Amino acid sequence: MSTGKYIGRVLVVDDDQAICEILRAQLSNEGFDCEVALSAEEGLSMLRRDAFDAVLSDLHMPGLSGLDFLAAARRERPHVAFLLVTGEQDVRTAIQAMKSGVSDYVVKPFKGETVLRSVGQAIEKKRLEAELQGYRQKLEHMVEERTRQLFSALQEIEITYDSTLEALGGALDLRDSATAGHSIRVTLYALTIAEAMNCGEKQLRELARAASLHDIGKIGIPDAVLLKAGCLTAEEQAIMRSHVLVGYELVSRIAFLAQAAAIVRAHHERYDGAGYPAGVSGDRIPLGARIFAVADTLDAMTSDRPYRKALSFEEAMAEIVAQSGRQFDPVVVKAFLSVPRHVWSSIQTGSLSVGRPRPRAEAVAMPEQRARPD
Ligand SMILES: [Fe+2]
Repeated sequence: MSTGKYIGRVLVVDDDQAICEILRAQLSNEGFDCEVALSAEEGLSMLRRDAFDAVLSDLHMPGLSGLDFLAAARRERPHVAFLLVTGEQDVRTAIQAMKSGVSDYVVKPFKGETVLRSVGQAIEKKRLEAELQGYRQKLEHMVEERTRQLFSALQEIEITYDSTLEALGGALDLRDSATAGHSIRVTLYALTIAEAMNCGEKQLRELARAASLHDIGKIGIPDAVLLKAGCLTAEEQAIMRSHVLVGYELVSRIAFLAQAAAIVRAHHERYDGAGYPAGVSGDRIPLGARIFAVADTLDAMTSDRPYRKALSFEEAMAEIVAQSGRQFDPVVVKAFLSVPRHVWSSIQTGSLSVGRPRPRAEAVAMPEQRARPD
């Protein structure tokens, strides 16, 4: 009776040739492609040479025992179904063997149908396991691929965000013609100092975003105040100073700019507490804002203004050093001084953008508490 259901390649291993032949006849009759081996050693060499779906092995053989043979065979071909042929007295051993990966056992004297059913089921089980394993691997591959695509899409979104912020910073500069290019330069100055302080990628990103947007609150300042050439009255100065809180209000509503918003709010604070809007001092000012303050002043002093010519870099540097511990955090000033002169020059002379590689400053050893994120 051939059902055509249990088709596969089977290796029968038994030192009793009569049993081998009976099994071969029964299995072949049922549509299996059957080979026999009269010893464990021969079985192993056939397994190494050919592919089988199932191995049916006697438990007791001269030389390598059935259990040792199965252990060795499973190491060779872990995806093959292994079955034991055993006597009544060894059923317990066979059950134990199933715990270590043997698919099934057949007790002698066996009926042909029993053997066929066991072999067929064992092969089918292995086939399903292999299918499941393949499906699992496919799923894992799909998850990896989707994760990679998602990560890449997120990176693109981040780049788009940052380009938008950079463009917005440039647009803000245009409103006040005296500060053309200020936003991009000050961003690069700030990043250069932050790198010299060993700030991490996340801090650098937040700092770049804050630097692009630091004066966004000036959108709310009337031209009569923003562009006034002479000294500001006390009232006008108060209006001008409101740009930090207006900027904070605008930026803090955007979730991914929350950290940058804190820097926008604090970018006119002073290390000695004499700044605005909160008058906080020292480490209570976010590290990004302390870094930004040096960068902003450096650019302001080294840029032409309608009412004065730009200072030389050396003059600006001397002023920053003079303000260390007063306007500026001494640790930030130390980092600023550690950056080689040519790095500042290449930023100052343009042709750089936040997204492009730029000359890197060597990091200086900073006290640990200062290098931590704010
Ligand atoms: Fe400002």
